[in-house]
Amino acid sequence: MDLTSWVILPFLLGSVGIYGLLKLLQRLRSSAYIQDAVVVITGATSGLGKECAKVFYEAGAQVVLCGRNEEGLKDVIKQLCLIRGGAMKFHKPHMVIFDLSDVEAVASAAREILHLVGKVDILINNAGVSYRGAIVDTKLSVDRTIMDTNYFGPVALTKALLPSMIQKKGGHIVVISSVQGKISIPFRSAYSASKHATQAFFDCLRAEMVPHDIAVTVISPGYIQTNLSLNAVTEDGSRYGVMDKTTAEGRTPEEVAQIVLRAVGERSKDVLVAGPLPTLAVYLRVLAPKLFFSLMAARAKKERKFKDS
Ligand SMILES: NC(=O)c1ccc[n+]([C@@H]2O[C@H](COP(=O)([O-])OP(=O)(O)OC[C@H]3O[C@@H](n4cnc5c(N)ncnc54)[C@H](OP(=O)(O)O)[C@@H]3O)[C@@H](O)[C@H]2O)c1
Repeated sequence: MDLTSWVILPFLLGSVGIYGLLKLLQRLRSSAYIQDAVVVITGATSGLGKECAKVFYEAGAQVVLCGRNEEGLKDVIKQLCLIRGGAMKFHKPHMVIFDLSDVEAVASAAREILHLVGKVDILINNAGVSYRGAIVDTKLSVDRTIMDTNYFGPVALTKALLPSMIQKKGGHIVVISSVQGKISIPFRSAYSASKHATQAFFDCLRAEMVPHDIAVTVISPGYIQTNLSLNAVTEDGSRYGVMDKTTAEGRTPEEVAQIVLRAVGERSKDVLVAGPLPTLAVYLRVLAPKLFFSLMAARAKKERKFKDS
C-alpha cells in the first residue's frame, strides 16, 4: 500500500461510518417524534390517507382517522387492529366523522377531536377531490365545491386546531398538495387553483408559526394509484368515474405514505414527490415560463382534439 492509500482509505471509511451514524441518529429521532404522538389524518377511508393511517399506526402513533363515511372508517380501524407488531405497543385508533367541505362541521369536529384525545401533535390534511373539465363549460358551483374541500376544509381544520398547538407550545401541520399546486395543467383548473392556494396558505403559515415551534410540511406528489380520478368532479358536478392511465401508472399509495412518514419525522418543509418530467416542468415554469406556457398550450390543443374526436 502506498502513502495515498494509507491516507485516503481511512478517510473514506471514516466518512462512511460518520454518515451511517448520522443517518441512524436521524432515524431514531424521527421514530421517537412519531411514537405516541397524536396524529389526525383526514380522508382516511381511501388511497393515500388510508395508507398514512397504517404507517403512522405501525410507527406507534395514536391515530385519529377522519372522513365522511362511517363504514369506511370502521373498516380501516378493523384492518389496523389486525396488525401485530411483536413487542411494539399500538394505541387504540379513533375516528371522527365529518364533511370537510362544511366549515361548521369542521369546527365541531375539531372540538370533538380535542375532547377525544386531549391534544393534537400532528395534523395531516390529506382529504381531497380532483376535477376534470374545460373552464368555459364548468359551473362556478363546481369551482366552489373543489375549493371548499381542498382549500377551505384544511384551512378551517388547521385554524380550529392551531390555538391548542400554540398553547402546548408545539405541533406539526402537514398538507398533501400536488405537483399541480406548483404548475397548472389544462382542464384541471379548479383542482390546480385549489392546490396553488393550499401551497400559498401553508407557506405563510410555516413562517408565522416559527415562534410557536409548530412545523409545517407541504407534500406535493405526482400521480398516485388511488381512486382520485374515479372520484373527480366534472364540469356539471357529476362524477368523472374513469381510472386515468396516468393515475393507474402512478406511485403506489404505500410508497407515498412512507415518504410522508419520513418527511414528517424529519420535519421537512416542502417535498416534491415526482419523476424527472414533472420536476423539470416545475423548474421550467419558474426559469423558462414562455417555453412552459407553449408546452401547456400544445397539451391543451392535443387534449381538445382527443375530446372532439
Ligand atoms: N392520486 C393522485 O394521483 C394524487 C396526486 C397528487 C396529490 N394527491 C392528493 O392526495 C390526497 C389524497 O387523495 P387520494 O389520491 O388518496 O384520493 P382518494 O382515494 O379519492 O381519497 C380521497 C379521500 O378524501 C376524502 N374526501 C373527499 N372529499 C371529502 C369531503 N368533502 N369530506 C371529507 N373527506 C373527503 C375521501 O373520502 P370519501 O371516502 O368519503 O370519498 C377519501 O378518503 C388528496 O389531497 C389529493 O389531492 C393525489
